[in-house]
Amino acid sequence: MKHTDNIILNKLQRKTTDIIPLWHKQILNWYQQYGRNTLPWRNLNGDNAPYGVYVSEIMLQQTQVKRVLESYYTPFMTSFPTLQSLAIADEENVLKHWEGLGYYTRARNMQKTAQICCEKFNNALPQTYAELISLPGIGAYSAGAILCFGFKQSVSFVDGNIRRLLCRIFALQNATMPLLEELSTILLDQKHSFDYNQALLDIGATICTPKSPSCLLCPVHNLCDGYTNPTLYPKPKKSHLHPLELHLALCIDANGKIAFIQGDKSGLYQGLYNLPNLEKEQVVSYEKCGSFKHHYTKYAITANVYIINQDTFKHLVPQTNLYFFSYQELDSKPLSSLCKKALKFVDSKKSK
Ligand code: ADE
Repeated sequence: MKHTDNIILNKLQRKTTDIIPLWHKQILNWYQQYGRNTLPWRNLNGDNAPYGVYVSEIMLQQTQVKRVLESYYTPFMTSFPTLQSLAIADEENVLKHWEGLGYYTRARNMQKTAQICCEKFNNALPQTYAELISLPGIGAYSAGAILCFGFKQSVSFVDGNIRRLLCRIFALQNATMPLLEELSTILLDQKHSFDYNQALLDIGATICTPKSPSCLLCPVHNLCDGYTNPTLYPKPKKSHLHPLELHLALCIDANGKIAFIQGDKSGLYQGLYNLPNLEKEQVVSYEKCGSFKHHYTKYAITANVYIINQDTFKHLVPQTNLYFFSYQELDSKPLSSLCKKALKFVDSKKSK
């Protein structure tokens, strides 16, 4: 921690000591009544529990509980029920299970991590913080969550939701992560760390929301210094969406197969199949099928779609690294959401 963090922490010492008994009691009571304690990854036992928790935590990093629950967690666990099965799985099949979740590096890192665990840690996730964060895709938050929820260790951690909750409780606008991690360690209910930490995640995600928190429903509103003006804490970050214009070529060959390229290792869509993207200068003389909007990570994309015949396509697009798939073959190929949307878009135009 920085020197300035220590000064802030000293100032907050009194408050933390004062609130801790109520803080624990109110949070746990609330969790018994309103917590999402039926979520499948909160009800795992036995040797495989850490793996199930690990999968859920990686999926939940950038995706809401509802989506993970409805479409991703169970199919993934059914197809890859253990670390070993994930380690030896076909990468394209892993990506297919991730289709639509975005941030595909997460899926690739999970497979790398599974392979390392099978080689180095006897087919299991390691049980120490230092070993966990040495694995691809596991940072401070995920390591803490795996230790607490998977191995039932009494540890604290801070994710985006817990960060917001703590900033509001202590009315902090610019708190550093080391300061927040220290506060969360001090506030941890060591005897009930599993329920306590799950409760913090629930309160952060469902009550102490970024834009319009439901303070009247909050079990710790009486302890909150940010109560009268919660959205001041933490200071909102300006989020800039970058406009990006794409020119997607849809080419269907003589066998009715569509041409795709595969996202390269360093790009946005690693390993996923996409429609080839053309330069603006290449498309000036072709008629657009139409355009649609799409958001992906920090990009606000305008996608223009062109239906290009095979002869023209050969001149426009380098013929290396092209893949041709029929509609049926696409069922087992991982496609980007952008690509799926483009195919649907063209279909909707055709049927008009
Ligand atoms: N977000 C991150 N981890 C979570 C969990 N264990 N339950 C619900 N939401 C989460």
